[in-house]
Amino acid sequence: MQGILSLLATTAVVLVPAVGAQCPDYSTYSQQRHEPFSTGRYSLSYMRPDPACRTFNSSDVEDTIVAMKSVIKDPDLYRLFENAFPNSLDTAVKWKGVAADNSGEELTFLITGDINAMWLRDSANQMQSYLSLLKPNTSSLSLASLYRGVINLQARYILSAPHCNSFQPPLESGLPPTQNQALPDDFTPYVANTTVFECKYELDSLAAFLEISTNYYQATGDIEFFGNFNWVSAVQKIINTTEALLVGTYANNGSVNEVPYTWMRTTTSATETLSNDGRGNPVQDGTGLVRSMFRPSDDATIYQLFIPANMMFSRYLDSASQIMAAIGGQRNLANHMHNFAQSIRSAITTFGIVNDPTYGQVYAYEVDGFGSANRMDDANIPSLLSAPFIGYLNVTDPIYQNTRKFILSNDNPYFMRGPVINAVGGPHVSFGKAWPMASIMRIFTTYSVSEIETALKEIVSSTAGLGLIHESINTFDAGDWTRQWFSWANGLFGQCLLDLKDRVPAVLGASYQ
Ligand SMILES: *[C@@H]1O[C@H](CO)[C@@H](O)[C@H](O)[C@H]1NC(C)=O
Ligand SMILES: *[C@@H]1O[C@H](CO)[C@@H](O)[C@H](O)[C@H]1NC(C)=O
Ligand SMILES: *[C@@H]1O[C@H](CO)[C@@H](O)[C@H](O)[C@H]1NC(C)=O
Ligand SMILES: *[C@@H]1O[C@H](CO)[C@@H](O)[C@H](O)[C@H]1NC(C)=O
Ligand SMILES: *[C@@H]1O[C@H](CO)[C@@H](O)[C@H](O)[C@H]1NC(C)=O
Ligand SMILES: *[C@@H]1O[C@H](CO)[C@@H](O)[C@H](O)[C@H]1NC(C)=O
Repeated sequence: MQGILSLLATTAVVLVPAVGAQCPDYSTYSQQRHEPFSTGRYSLSYMRPDPACRTFNSSDVEDTIVAMKSVIKDPDLYRLFENAFPNSLDTAVKWKGVAADNSGEELTFLITGDINAMWLRDSANQMQSYLSLLKPNTSSLSLASLYRGVINLQARYILSAPHCNSFQPPLESGLPPTQNQALPDDFTPYVANTTVFECKYELDSLAAFLEISTNYYQATGDIEFFGNFNWVSAVQKIINTTEALLVGTYANNGSVNEVPYTWMRTTTSATETLSNDGRGNPVQDGTGLVRSMFRPSDDATIYQLFIPANMMFSRYLDSASQIMAAIGGQRNLANHMHNFAQSIRSAITTFGIVNDPTYGQVYAYEVDGFGSANRMDDANIPSLLSAPFIGYLNVTDPIYQNTRKFILSNDNPYFMRGPVINAVGGPHVSFGKAWPMASIMRIFTTYSVSEIETALKEIVSSTAGLGLIHESINTFDAGDWTRQWFSWANGLFGQCLLDLKDRVPAVLGASYQ
């Protein structure tokens, strides 16, 4: 602890990204094509900002981009990698500095992309795209410092508003809060709109904090960091918050239980508000599953016992319990985390598996504990498709394999098909739009060369010449897409090709022309 703190005292500098008047707004920049175009048939735009306009530099990332040039043979696929992999560092590190009351406490404000706010889920996953390059390093210019800054700022956010999913810049940044019309009228009970950008309670947002913590710890072994700032209290806050959401709708005696979170706002979209006075559809008491009022798409759940987020939370609560145990003096809390994770896992097995006449035993997307199940999958992660990616189970798990066949079939009500791209979509942008993020997750969860090559071909051919990963694409028209600047999906694509290099390298030598 001494070492890190004293080093930081001398090396911590406030980085002001060089986004001056001469640097174009990336929201606009990413909608136009820029030369030099790639030499393949898709003639993809070069989409990296000018070096002077990049928001964080990492020589390890630059070296990786160069090294992959000899591995990825297809010129369009390589261009997509070259644009997508560094996108979060190039564009989304809006501010990096230290806490006003502790110059040793690094802070990173990492925005989602075209919305000027930091999501807990997105920022954890944006950092995960660089996990394979993460090493112990005390320099404020390192990826490790960027990670620490995200973890510290997330801890602050969770302590201030544990039910919220997306946040405003920290005061230290001097950045103005982003105007937001999406908060309910009675929002004040939760927290100020200058701190919070959106307050949808999503279990996976809290799991994301445990995920990035686990990733940082396993790659660096830097246990001192976790004891230094607010990490332990943030975990306590997460436990308190999620345990309070184990509650069902009715008590045994029939009285209606209080629920610690409600959400209601004036909207024309059913997925942006909750029924039953902001409480949502009823759920059974005592299942052992943690409720989630919203999904990782930021859409309302139909049944709040949302299985993918419970899987992710259980898995990362368990791995984070090892950090807690290693800190020292937190043995009880560490045991509590491990036991809570195990009890959620057993509740998933009891309530989250249903029998399908065609596919056999499969995981449900959402259940209510009364016997109803929502059978679907959505593109956003955590999804059922991503269960092995989040480390909840192995890809060979027979129930997962049954579930995967269902998800990638026409029996999944949100599987989108067409001549341009075939992938899971979701209600967030509605029917007929497939999400490349789901194609990427399909690749992560198979060893089949033909399945991977089909998905890569669809991804590389459907960017409308822009050379970035969009949120969704019309399955009949590649020119009709959403979100020009979706940093997480870009990083995930880079992470996926790095994974393929080790796992199924042949597909990176293939042509996608
Ligand atoms: C990244 O490096 C370029 C020079 O290649 C420099 O102009 C820019 O200011 C650097 N960005 C940051 C955030 O340090
Ligand atoms: C730590 O990171 C800095 C900035 O990226 C780099 O210059 C330095 O070489 C790294 N140190 C080690 C020991 O890897
Ligand atoms: C916060 O809410 C107030 C009152 O509704 C509004 O005037 C203000 O513009 C909002 N601020 C932001 C940053 O959205
Ligand atoms: C969590 O709950 C415990 C017991 O009610 C309480 O002592 C503790 O202060 C709470 N911690 C946080 C961070 O809210
Ligand atoms: C019903 O049970 C709940 C939970 O145990 C308790 O809080 C509540 O006071 C009880 N209500 C009545 C009317 O007995
Ligand atoms: C995956 O399989 C390996 C080897 O059988 C086992 O050790 C590991 O615990 C499994 N992982 C999960 C998440 O079930």
